Amino acid sequence: MACITFVFLCSSLLFIAVKSRPATGPKVFDVQSYGAKGDGKTDNTNAFTKVWKDACAWNGRSRLVYIPKGTFYLGGVTFQGPCKGKISFFIEGTLLAPTNNDDIKKETWINFRYIDYLTVSGGGTINGQGKKSWLLNDCHKNDNCPKLATNMGFDFVKKSRIQGITSLNSKAGHLNFFFVDHFDISGVKITAPGHSPNTDGIKIGLSSNMQISNTHISTGDDCIAILSGNTNFDIYNVTCGPGHGISVGSLGKDKDERKVEGLRVKDTVFTGTTNGLRIKTWESPASSIVISNLVYENIQMINVENPIDINQKYCPYPPCQKLGESHIQIQDVTLKNIWGTSMTKVAVKLQCSKKFPCKDVKLVDINLTHKGIDGPAIAFCQNVEGSASGKMIPPHCLN
Ligand SMILES: *[C@@H]1O[C@H](CO)[C@@H](O)[C@H](O)[C@H]1NC(C)=O
Ligand SMILES: *[C@@H]1O[C@H](CO)[C@@H](O)[C@H](O)[C@H]1NC(C)=O
Repeated sequence: MACITFVFLCSSLLFIAVKSRPATGPKVFDVQSYGAKGDGKTDNTNAFTKVWKDACAWNGRSRLVYIPKGTFYLGGVTFQGPCKGKISFFIEGTLLAPTNNDDIKKETWINFRYIDYLTVSGGGTINGQGKKSWLLNDCHKNDNCPKLATNMGFDFVKKSRIQGITSLNSKAGHLNFFFVDHFDISGVKITAPGHSPNTDGIKIGLSSNMQISNTHISTGDDCIAILSGNTNFDIYNVTCGPGHGISVGSLGKDKDERKVEGLRVKDTVFTGTTNGLRIKTWESPASSIVISNLVYENIQMINVENPIDINQKYCPYPPCQKLGESHIQIQDVTLKNIWGTSMTKVAVKLQCSKKFPCKDVKLVDINLTHKGIDGPAIAFCQNVEGSASGKMIPPHCLN
């Protein structure tokens, strides 16, 4: 009706809308126009490097690097900015890594660096083909173990996102974040076998204002690892398992570490993981940072070995070097509405530093049960101060 009355106005608005559309859509850079072939064999490293260079340097508002359906074999690549505006990396097909780690020649197979307004999406898969390299991983007994490549890394990337991408069988970690700010991870799927070594799902350092949501992670190491210098994180609707849980740390070995502050984990399910919610620091005075303001809420544990695990005597491969009590201060930790089943008797472990006892740990509505010949679940406390309220299974051990 309104349009009949204002025919002239409506049609001219429509005209403006239609006319302005091509100017706002991104310019598409198709990898195939650069000679890339999705046949699973052709080495597309040069084609991808060139397409990125042209797209990044193109003098317009918004550009999109397009990878269609197909299997694109790709060696190690670095996609570097800054670009002249927003850039999308749109993967419909599969990117296939070299089987041999030496053919990657980089720490990270696909590395994005120094970019603002990057979107990685498209529903496609990055396949790290890690199976053969996992056999080479002997890092638990050899400090000079071969350094295997991470699937995808983001360094110095801001105001950006990755969504709707699958990361498969990485040689080492799946997604690595270093010095990123305002970054959104959603609808991502991360998959590797539970026995694959050091295949952390999402590993983050020196980053801020990150969100991880609607994501499924099954892998051989931490589902999410939050390392030194991370602030303001929101994690919700994440499923983890198999894997080693959502971890802060490990920390405490390195004197240059920075604080971890402001982590919220909500609406998350752990299934068959070795750990659930975990904070791990080494027995060393090297680092004296604070880990604070952590909230874990609405979390289900299904057959998790160690559902709640604050461990300031972290030692994954004994014997570990013990250089003294941890000097890391853990404080302001809320664990609220956490329920399910523990595979071991100690369902709640709060083992803090004697020199720097944990402060202000709040337990609210915990219901973690254990069935075994060793009896029902228990909580274990050491050097921890806090409070408990609501239902409490197992009974808490705070004082
Ligand atoms: C939670 O994440 C899954 C993907 O892992 C998605 O299918 C589901 O829709 C999400 N739920 C909500 C409420 O967003
Ligand atoms: C705790 O969880 C169990 C199932 O795991 C349930 O049977 C029980 O009623 C719950 N207890 C409380 C107090 O909610």
